[in-house]
Amino acid sequence: MPFQVQVTSNPAPKGSDLVRFCHSGERLPAGVPEAEFSGGLFTSALVRDDGSRILYVGLGEKKELKPKTFVRAAGFAVRQSIKRGATTLRFDLGRHGAMVRAAVEGAKLGAYKFEDFKRPEERRPHELKRLVLQVSAAGLSKARAAAKQGAAVGNALNTARAVGNLPPNVLNPGSLAARASALAKKHGLACKVFDHKRLAKDGFGGLLAVGGGSAHPPRLITLEYRGGPKGQAPVALVGKAITFDSGGLSIKPSASMDEMKWDKMGGITVLGIMQAVAALRLPFNVVAVIASAENMLGTGAYRPSDIVTTYDGKTIEVLNTDAEGRIVLADGLAYARQTYRPVAMVEFSTLTGACLVALGRNRAGLFSESADLIKTLERSSEATGDQLWNLPMGGEFDEAVKSEVATVKNAGERWGGASFAASFLQTWAENTPFAHLDIAGTAWITKERPDLEAGATGFGVRLILDALPALAKRKG
Ligand code: BES
Ligand code: MN
Ligand code: ZN
Repeated sequence: MPFQVQVTSNPAPKGSDLVRFCHSGERLPAGVPEAEFSGGLFTSALVRDDGSRILYVGLGEKKELKPKTFVRAAGFAVRQSIKRGATTLRFDLGRHGAMVRAAVEGAKLGAYKFEDFKRPEERRPHELKRLVLQVSAAGLSKARAAAKQGAAVGNALNTARAVGNLPPNVLNPGSLAARASALAKKHGLACKVFDHKRLAKDGFGGLLAVGGGSAHPPRLITLEYRGGPKGQAPVALVGKAITFDSGGLSIKPSASMDEMKWDKMGGITVLGIMQAVAALRLPFNVVAVIASAENMLGTGAYRPSDIVTTYDGKTIEVLNTDAEGRIVLADGLAYARQTYRPVAMVEFSTLTGACLVALGRNRAGLFSESADLIKTLERSSEATGDQLWNLPMGGEFDEAVKSEVATVKNAGERWGGASFAASFLQTWAENTPFAHLDIAGTAWITKERPDLEAGATGFGVRLILDALPALAKRKG
């Protein structure tokens, strides 16, 4: 259950669970054990004072304080407090009135844990019911608006995490589509779902091929938000949502195959962004295209050597059925480009192990042939802490994707695998400004962090929310 948020300028009543945020090197009140508390990020000290419990939480250096740091400190504070049994928590933000949005966003992130399949007696004994933000009287009305925004973003991130963590026996392309349309209804978005019949009729050969081996047929899901001027070309977000990736006939080894339930995170990230865009009522036109299939080995499975015709007529020589994401994305990108004529397309996918090998777990791969898009996304990366690293594409990779028997082939040599995939996708973006974000390393974590539970991270939601003003005003 999400907690309630309340903003006040009244002082804390006795017996409160209070959080005070401090910087490193700052002089601390008497009673705070300086040995165990440096004021650095992810450090804390608990002090009892006149019946209240005060948790001092570090923010790091004062001159370096940014919202992205406050988000993490707030998440850490909430996680520490829930472990200690707090149900109503009070943040003292008297000195940090500009951080209200970040504080609520971080608190939301810190409070979420995937417990859907635990019996009540197996869940955490305590959950946070109420967060009170204490601000100066002068800042009260601004703080109320900021708290609402923080909650909208935090809730959207938690939607992405909660749907992302669902197991593949529960979340398949059909049930994902049902959830997307329920979310759309709740937030006033237009939503369309193409089932396999419609996909066949309209020539989505990529989705049908990848989904052929599964008992759960594929879907193409679109969401539309019109908050900008009528007739203005939208920003298009495209996402890979493979609800489980077994590799298909080019089957994966069994070690870590369980993690392939998160192979849907590209599409789920896009869903989370759309929830936030609607809840924040942003003044832009934004559309989302989610290409969803389950990659399995049933009798209808596609095979190495198949040649698949995609939505815009371009063909793919299948050499490895485990390079499935790019095949469903070919349909998704072609559909988005032709249907919406967007000013820009930003696409999310857990696309390659090669990207994970290159960049590790803290940075997503950024691929684009538009210097302008790279600049916009890198700026938002710096602002939000969703870290990116620009990797090459085009050139020799455009040569490598060519096929003797089809427009392109879906796999080549092992080296440069993430760049090969990016150049493959560019084929379907044609001249539409296009950026591909490979979130294979960042979409989920298998060990908890001080500020975040293990599981889906929601990486990319804040990145795009920050970039949207710049993306939307592009001239194409
Ligand atoms: N979903 C995987 C990529 C992946 C692997 C993401 C591990 C996160 C962790 C993708 O569908 C895939 O299997 N890619 C292959 C491509 C190869 C066959 C060309 C890969 O990276 O090995
Ligand atoms: Mn795969
Ligand atoms: Zn995959």
